[in-house]
Amino acid sequence: MAIEDVHRILVVGSGAMGSQIGAVCALAGYDTTVQDISPEALQRASDQLRTRLDRNVEKGRMSRSDVDAAFDRLAFETDLDAAAADTDLVIEAAVERLDVKREIFARLDKATPPHAILTTNSSTITSSQIADATGRPERVANMHFFNPALVMACVEVVRSPATSDDTFDTVLELARRLGKQPVALRKEIPGFVANRILHALRDEAISLLEQGVASFEDIDVACRTALGHPMGPFELMDLTGIDIAYQAKLARHAVSNDPRDLPSRTVTERYERGDLGRKTGRGFYDYGESS
Ligand code: 3HC
Repeated sequence: MAIEDVHRILVVGSGAMGSQIGAVCALAGYDTTVQDISPEALQRASDQLRTRLDRNVEKGRMSRSDVDAAFDRLAFETDLDAAAADTDLVIEAAVERLDVKREIFARLDKATPPHAILTTNSSTITSSQIADATGRPERVANMHFFNPALVMACVEVVRSPATSDDTFDTVLELARRLGKQPVALRKEIPGFVANRILHALRDEAISLLEQGVASFEDIDVACRTALGHPMGPFELMDLTGIDIAYQAKLARHAVSNDPRDLPSRTVTERYERGDLGRKTGRGFYDYGESS
């Protein structure tokens, strides 16, 4: 399918990633539906997007008419089959579980028009692990955004051996039309490019902490002030979620079977306590109740 034939986009999942990906699509002019089984999650997503985009208007980053037009193009829906019926392209951003994603893709395969492209935002589950749950593996790929998706320019587009040239090109071009900078991965590798580099840095940061070399606060300071990173690795884990860091490690271990790929003690302790970062008000840092 050519990019000119993409008019309607469905985003499955209304968490931090799904909701902001939906907003990115609507801001770029696409009729967009964000679907989630939880009406409360959809309401929260809608409220948070309003606050976020209103702030962009106040700060002069966007015009009021552009934001209002984006909200006119943005729908929230609980029924997956209804949401999928007339969509041209799906970006799935539901939970990072292979069984759930395979079930969603099998359903999408039945509910979307035959021409629709089905992508997943996952960076730990490659599309070839999901594509055979559909009857259209040539129209399945990874389209991986970064958190916060409204801000981060990078989108990794990853083809599986089954992904057609046509699908790959259309998803790359869509990323450009969303105002993003696509990075094309011509073959699958767990973690893709950016997260593999990030995880190498994070592993070293955790090792320094666990050896008692420096506090996590000071390691963050070093990354910000010596390396010019906008956030240190511990601040970033709090932003993206300690549960995500934990699961990414387990996914890596499942492939490598290397004990060095298991989650660290530092991350496991926080994961088991439910200190998952900003979303729970506490991770490495304390954010208070307001977060
Ligand atoms: N959602 C949307 N917009 C946000 C945001 C969020 N959660 N946080 C910040 N912003 C935007 C806002 O426009 C904000 O301005 P405002 O406060 O006036 O509304 C603007 O960014 C600046 O924010 P701050 O002044 O609070 O702080 P910074 O200047 O440090 O910017 C940041 C925040 C953009 C998050 C920046 O710190 C950054 O780039 N951090 C690194 C993020 C990163 O590395 N992301 C990749 C993570 S890995 C990943 O996503 C992989 C996946 O598989 C998990």
